[in-house]
Amino acid sequence: MALEVTQLCKDYPTRSGPLAILRNATLQLEHGDALAVMGPSGSGKSTLLHILGTLDRPTSGSVRLDGKDPFALPEQELADFRNRHIGFVFQDHHLLPQCSVLENVLIPTVVAHAGGDTEQWARELLKRVGLSDRLDHRPAELSGGERQRVAVARALVQRPALLLADEPTGNLDRRTAQHVGQLLLDLHLQEQTMLVVVTHSAELAKRFPRQLEMADGSLQAMEAP
Ligand SMILES: Nc1ncnc2c1ncn2[C@@H]1O[C@H](COP(=O)(O)OP(=O)(O)O)[C@@H](O)[C@H]1O
Ligand SMILES: [Mg+2]
Repeated sequence: MALEVTQLCKDYPTRSGPLAILRNATLQLEHGDALAVMGPSGSGKSTLLHILGTLDRPTSGSVRLDGKDPFALPEQELADFRNRHIGFVFQDHHLLPQCSVLENVLIPTVVAHAGGDTEQWARELLKRVGLSDRLDHRPAELSGGERQRVAVARALVQRPALLLADEPTGNLDRRTAQHVGQLLLDLHLQEQTMLVVVTHSAELAKRFPRQLEMADGSLQAMEAP
């Protein structure tokens, strides 16, 4: 799958008129590409990621996944499409506290009524993120880094073509952040997913083959440090 984003604009209505957050943001990703997006707080990075993930609609401009416009789908089909093809990791893990590690990873497959080898694949993913011995633990029994590793496994359980991560290491200490960041890159390579990571960490961004900066509402080449 390829992702093509053209002249994306997003306005938010305010009392004093529309506030332009994205202004002609343009981006292309091919199958298996990885991109780090940086930029100051409030510059529209999360807004962009939500639109790429079809969680929010642009004011104008287009998003094409595999040449198709996901926003043309009826709401339920769009939700199915998102569940099947797009994985998310957020700054907060968003794990369900009452569910075990394994159950949390399986949630997207339950929603999709996916059959087949899903549990075996969930166990394999948890092995790859180093949590094989924690399958029955609750999120409260894990460290912050471990919770985020569960969130990474959950994001990949449907074998998405596109993996989106919004400051996935923002709440972690430096060492743990490095570990989780490297896991995202390793899994992206193993699974050949397209990966877009929003990060404030220059250390993480520089490990990506490509970096862009959100500035004035659009994506620009990074200034050399
Ligand atoms: N639902 C919303 N309604 C109005 N303004 C919003 C909404 N969501 C985000 N914004 C504004 O859009 C700007 C960009 O936000 P965001 O995309 O979260 O930035 P970033 O992730 O780069 O910090 C901010 O000024 C924020 O206040
Ligand atoms: Mg944000």
